[in-house]
Amino acid sequence: MAVIEVALAGRAYEVVIEEGVLGRLPAAADAFLRSYAGGRAVPFVADSNTHRLFAAGIDADLAEQGFVADWFVVEPGEDAKTWPVLERLTDWLLAGGVTRSDHVFALGGGVVGDLVGFACAITKRGCGFVQIPTTLLAQVDSSVGGKTAINTKSGKNLIGAFHQPALVLIDPLVLATLPDREMRAGFAEVIKYGLLGDTAFFDWLELNGDKVLAREPAALEHAIATSIAMKARIVAEDERETLDRRALLNLGHTFGHALEAETGFSDRLLHGEAVALGMVLAARYSARRGELSDSDSGRAAQAIAAAGLPARLPSLGLTCDGARLVDHMRHDKKAEASTLPFLLLKGLGAAYVARDVDLADIAAFLDDELVRSAV
Ligand code: GLY
Repeated sequence: MAVIEVALAGRAYEVVIEEGVLGRLPAAADAFLRSYAGGRAVPFVADSNTHRLFAAGIDADLAEQGFVADWFVVEPGEDAKTWPVLERLTDWLLAGGVTRSDHVFALGGGVVGDLVGFACAITKRGCGFVQIPTTLLAQVDSSVGGKTAINTKSGKNLIGAFHQPALVLIDPLVLATLPDREMRAGFAEVIKYGLLGDTAFFDWLELNGDKVLAREPAALEHAIATSIAMKARIVAEDERETLDRRALLNLGHTFGHALEAETGFSDRLLHGEAVALGMVLAARYSARRGELSDSDSGRAAQAIAAAGLPARLPSLGLTCDGARLVDHMRHDKKAEASTLPFLLLKGLGAAYVARDVDLADIAAFLDDELVRSAV
């Protein structure tokens, strides 16, 4: 078990990482259930998968303590992060009599967490929420740090708010039912922490990544706790991403976003897979600039390939050129600029924000990468 504090003044909260914590939810979330002691139903939001897997157990555990859960269930996938679903959810919360001292429970992956967090940011000008992330990606990244958002026709996550949860409950046991591909996609974000700021953790992942992917309890808990401890530190230092600290968490994301856009934000390339390949590209581009050794760039790519994640651009079968991928990056930032901030590496465990990157050079680099044969 590990308990990590996100030390934000006046809004500090705990991230509890414990096998089986979902099975003792009433005790673990005791302080956040008290406002429902008068008999009002406790609002839970889930997708249809997490509802099917976990709702009956939660209902029974709550009933033993005299609570009743009311469930708002969304379809799995990004379509739940839309205005119509947000409207239905906020109407549902208001109809249930939600107050500012209540907490809404979000049980699911990043989609559910982002949707519920944003709904809670704006309902009654801000009510509380508890994150219970059920994917590895949500457990090591999106459930912590208070970035909440929905998608609109202008792009992903462009409408949202910083709104911190009051508690995050991470039960590694729920990952037993996670498909292997999603497990690997979440593992990409774990590798990210090693690459961006913790060489020893990266070394450990090289040796123990297979145990994490096999969901061996001790390895899995260590990977989650180390990731969250770093994220908690960074969020406490730079909650709103204004100091070039939190931006480090976007390692691999600018390249990755272009790949997701080119593949239509579809199952063809999951977000974590795009981040994985994006980190390889960031490492290789850093080596091209002479800031990272070829051997360290190779180690980064090897760790990603060893996890069964995409590590070579040709593996995606894209038919576009580098300029088109750069256009996706520009579109993301709503700018026709010749440069964008890029997360690059000065070493394994030493990411930094580069502000002198020429996008024409990125396009030329990507043209080379699109035909590269070896990892
Ligand atoms: N996922 C990146 C962040 O929370 O800042």
